[in-house]
Amino acid sequence: MTITSNDEATSLLGMYRAAPEHPDEVVLPIIGSVPQELRGTLYRNGPADWESGGFNGVHPFDGDGLVVKFTITGGTVKFRSRYVDTPKRRKELRGAGDRIRGVYTQARRLRDNIGRGPADAANTHAVVHADRLLALSDAGRPWQLDLDDLSTLGPCTFNGQLPSLSRFSPHPRIDPVTGELFNFGLDVGPSLEGRTVACLRCFRVDPAGRLSQLAAIPLEHIYIQHDFAITPQFLVFALAPITVDPVTAALAALGKGALGDSADYRPQQGMKIILVPRAGGGKPRIIECDPFVYIHVDNAYEDRGDVVLDLVRHESFAFLSQAAKQFRTEPLAVAGWPARLRVSAGGSVDLTDYPSPATEFPSHDERRTGREHRYTYLASAEEDAAAIVKLDRQTNTQRLHHFSQAMAPGEPIFVPKAHHSGEDEGWLLVVTYNAGEHRTELHILDAADIENPPLAIAVLPSHHFPGFHGSFTERITAP
Ligand SMILES: [Fe+2]
Repeated sequence: MTITSNDEATSLLGMYRAAPEHPDEVVLPIIGSVPQELRGTLYRNGPADWESGGFNGVHPFDGDGLVVKFTITGGTVKFRSRYVDTPKRRKELRGAGDRIRGVYTQARRLRDNIGRGPADAANTHAVVHADRLLALSDAGRPWQLDLDDLSTLGPCTFNGQLPSLSRFSPHPRIDPVTGELFNFGLDVGPSLEGRTVACLRCFRVDPAGRLSQLAAIPLEHIYIQHDFAITPQFLVFALAPITVDPVTAALAALGKGALGDSADYRPQQGMKIILVPRAGGGKPRIIECDPFVYIHVDNAYEDRGDVVLDLVRHESFAFLSQAAKQFRTEPLAVAGWPARLRVSAGGSVDLTDYPSPATEFPSHDERRTGREHRYTYLASAEEDAAAIVKLDRQTNTQRLHHFSQAMAPGEPIFVPKAHHSGEDEGWLLVVTYNAGEHRTELHILDAADIENPPLAIAVLPSHHFPGFHGSFTERITAP
């Protein structure tokens, strides 16, 4: 879902070529000057190889997860990258990629699709919590990686506390005040009556890394739910009616049709806001509202009894379910825009749109997670140029950092200058594909003066898709 510019379609498609990994750390050449005060480690994850060992991925989501690491200290940037060592990746390296079934990609032979779930590509997020580096995706369970050399340590079950059939979604939220991590998994299974049922399972991981289950909420549809938010009191879910059709899913289970194609937007099923008490116990509050399409959440907060949820809306789900399949030959046109949902204490729901250039990948100063934030940062592309958008919610104005035309920026990640710095007083780290040079770069922007040229560009030794999501930590593993 990285943003691309139509005018540069042909060259920008280079970011979808299989990327080499760089397990040995290298010092990157710098254009400009990296701020001396900027110190820490940026981890990111994204699909970076769709064609290994006979696999022929037909959708960006089916590419193998490449975790990249930037160590920034003393004005220097070191880099390394490594593919997550999943069974999918291992099978490909054995030359048996054509036997793998992905989310949208079918194995060559019918028998390799029958009864198979999607292979876990571990390609969506790299999250650091409780001394663990986790590679996460929608289709699988967490993988734990070595924080230093990025080698895959194995599946993370949280010391056996993650139920064996539960998923662990790729967008956990960390409370900056308590240090707790919250997440969910949407599980599907047969009920005692023989019907298929879905369950929204909510988890809390304490700062020491111990997982407990907060809630298990039965659902009447199998939702494709990618993201959520937290406030000090609640886990906040907006369940858009992007759901799985049971008949198509049953055929896919028999190998007839791709698993991903059984999901679609079904507005007639309505939309549900679910507020799950963070403290555990107590009934979740469920509010129905008019449906709309979205994938990513920015943040949520409580305001005098209301719950406010910021996200990025889309006109239609087809950009992901269908258009993205053309990723090898057509740039992916992503045309989202920021929106705010206000759920009143009385149960009314108001939706406000913030017209903007075509955007995706919303982020905020993570010291404000669960609290009211003023600024949202987004990656953007209009027809002629890519940009980073800074939305000021107090003044409802937008300021842009424009890239040259042949660039594809990924999700911007904000890093404060110091613990006591104000919101927006810091840097934006933006991993960007440079089509003209066919390489990937780390662009470091001054968030407060976002229009200015980058303070520094760290030049990688090769290219990779700029990734889906990542995390910054002050921790340095190898100074
Ligand atoms: Fe995501």
